This record gives sequence, structure tokens and C-alpha cells, in this order.
Amino acid sequence: METDRMVQVVLPGIVAPEGLEIREGRVPEAGRAQIVVAVEASGVSFAEQQMRRGRYYDQPPFPFVPGYDLVGRVLATGEDVDPGLTGRRVAALVKTGGWSSHVVLDAADAVEVPEGLAADEAETVVVNGITAWQMLHRQARVRAGQTILVHGASGGVGSVLVQLALAAGVAVIGTASARHHDALRERGVIPVDYRSGDVPARVRELAPGGVDAVFDHVGGRSVIDSWHLLAAGGTLVAYGSASTRDDTGSKQWPVLKILARTWLWNTLPNGRRAHFYNIWAGRALAKDRFRARLRTDLTQVLTALRDGEVSAPIAARLPLTRAAEALRLAESGTVTGKIVLTP
Ligand SMILES: NC(=O)c1ccc[n+]([C@@H]2O[C@H](COP(=O)([O-])OP(=O)(O)OC[C@H]3O[C@@H](n4cnc5c(N)ncnc54)[C@H](OP(=O)(O)O)[C@@H]3O)[C@@H](O)[C@H]2O)c1
Repeated sequence: METDRMVQVVLPGIVAPEGLEIREGRVPEAGRAQIVVAVEASGVSFAEQQMRRGRYYDQPPFPFVPGYDLVGRVLATGEDVDPGLTGRRVAALVKTGGWSSHVVLDAADAVEVPEGLAADEAETVVVNGITAWQMLHRQARVRAGQTILVHGASGGVGSVLVQLALAAGVAVIGTASARHHDALRERGVIPVDYRSGDVPARVRELAPGGVDAVFDHVGGRSVIDSWHLLAAGGTLVAYGSASTRDDTGSKQWPVLKILARTWLWNTLPNGRRAHFYNIWAGRALAKDRFRARLRTDLTQVLTALRDGEVSAPIAARLPLTRAAEALRLAESGTVTGKIVLTP
């Protein structure tokens, strides 16, 4: 590719994956306090599955470039940025815009990737790793000896969460489709099939006194069951509404319902806590604090990945120009691991 050419994937509206468009342009310049990153890897996240249906609760108006996170090399630095950053490998959480050969970022939003990690490896734990780390250690504050329930234990967020929990000495019960159960058992997780059988009843059999924390991205009825599975002093961390992806109607309503429930549950004098985790929480009010926390947490996960304490498989690597295929594959539910887009 010519060095001044930029390639981007555009989501033009509510379309099938094949409706994604490819756009070309010139590489933009960095403004004050900004950097230009030559993207090496961007991920396909659950958010893009929701966004192409117009179902992500705070997506921008169409058309836009999707892509929740990315890893790349700093190509150029703007005024007031250390020029020594040029050539360094960085990771960033962007929510949209990552499916591009180049992005312009505020330098303060870029987190350096430790030496010894390839770009695509690092990419697997950007949004998934931050989410898993913050929910486990900042919201639920798990401790060794506890037992937790992780829904979607083989998914992108779930699988990192499970590994971080096991490393912290926590016992894990994980819901997943049956095809993932052997791998989960090998990892040390007690698997529960969410597609057949009664999940709450099975979890009660395994943990009669309740669990110390539940991580729920399913939403709907599941979040109510999750709350009732908590032991005294337990914490519910809800963080998504995957079960309403294909619904019609308001995209905010499923999340608002969860927020209302968590608010109500927290007013009850029962010693349990409920949170709705949002990776962007606090950014508008305290940007510096938000960035510092994100930097610390992502660095911890990247270091754990480099040191082999966490692994996050890559299901497929596809060029940006095949983003439609990548999204279709992610939605097929047949792969395990992250689908990574490369320029
Ligand atoms: N709040 C936030 O800030 C935040 C940040 C990041 C992600 N998220 C949310 O996190 C969720 C997961 O994202 P991801 O990228 O990890 O997705 P992913 O890789 O597609 O994994 C989702 C997993 O959920 C499982 N699943 C689907 N329906 C289920 C159900 N009814 N019960 C239990 N498990 C079920 C699937 O399991 P099987 O393959 O075993 O069938 C799949 O492995 C999404 O809803 C996303 O929006 C939220």
C-alpha cells in the first residue's frame, strides 16, 4: 500500500455484513497532542454485530467506520507529543474507527504494548482484557477462595475473565455451549450448558450457598436469575444484553431495564451489590483518571498475556478489505477466539 493512502471500512446503515463498504483516502495528519497510528490489527467485537443492526446503545449516526479497538505503530506525532514515540507499538480503545489502515488519536489515549508481543496477539485483549480486568478486580473485587459464575465463559471477554479469576485463586463455574466444555474443564472451569437445561438450578446444585459474583452479558431474564444466585455479600456485574441483539425497538431500553433493576436491587437491605459495568464510565467527567486507569489495567493484561498467564486464541486473520467475511464469521458462532483484521 502507498504510504499516504488510507483504507477504511464503512458501515453505511443497517445492513448485512456484505453491505460494509471500503473507502480510500489520504492518511490524515496529527493535530496538537495527537498521533497517527498505522494500524496493524483491529478486532471484530460483539459491538459491531449490534452496531450493524443499529442495536448498540450509544453508537454514532450512520455512516461511520466501525472497529472498537486496535494495535499499531506510531507513524507520526503532532505538536506537544514526544517525537520519540514514533515507531512504538501502541494499543487503543476507540469504540468506532478501528477498521482503518490509519487512525488519528489523542496521544494520551494510546497505551504502549510491552516488547515481546505481536500486534495480533495484543489485539485479542484490548477491549476484552480491559473489560475482564476491571469487572473482576475493580467492580467485583474477587478474592482467593471465592466462587464465581461467568456467563459466556468461552467468549472473548468471558475467556479472559475466567483465566484472570483462576490466576487469582477463584473457583469458576462457566456457562457455554457444549462444544466448549472439554476445553473449559481442562482450564479448571466447571462448565454449564446454557443451551439445554436449567442454568440456575444447575448452579445451585454446584454452589448451594450461592456464588460470590456473577458476570452477566446476556441481559433479559438471565440478569434476574444471576442476581438470585448470589451468596450473601455477593456482587452482580451485568455488562451487556446479548440476548436482545436481534430484537427490534429501542436500542437503549434493554440496558435501561438492567440499570433500573440494579438500582432497585441496591436499595434492598440484603448485603448484595449490583453494578452495570460500562467500559466508558467516568470518561466524560474525569478524562485523566479514566486514561490512567485504562493504562494501568490494560498494561496488566498485556503483561499477563506476554508472560503466558493468559492466552487468547486468534480464530482468524483477515485483511480489512474482507471485513464482511470477518463479521459473518464472528456472527456464525462457530469459531473460538478473536477474529483479527489486518490492513
Ligand atoms: N459493558 C461494557 O463496557 C462491555 C465491554 C465489552 C464487551 N461488552 C459485552 O460483552 C459481551 C460479550 O462480548 P464478546 O466480544 O466477548 O462476545 P463473544 O466473543 O461473541 O462471546 C459471547 C459469548 O456469549 C455466549 N452466549 C451467547 N448467548 C448466551 C447465553 N444466553 N448465555 C450464556 N452465554 C451466551 C456465547 O457462548 P457459546 O459460544 O458458548 O455459545 C459466546 O461465546 C457483549 O454483549 C458485549 O456487548 C460490554
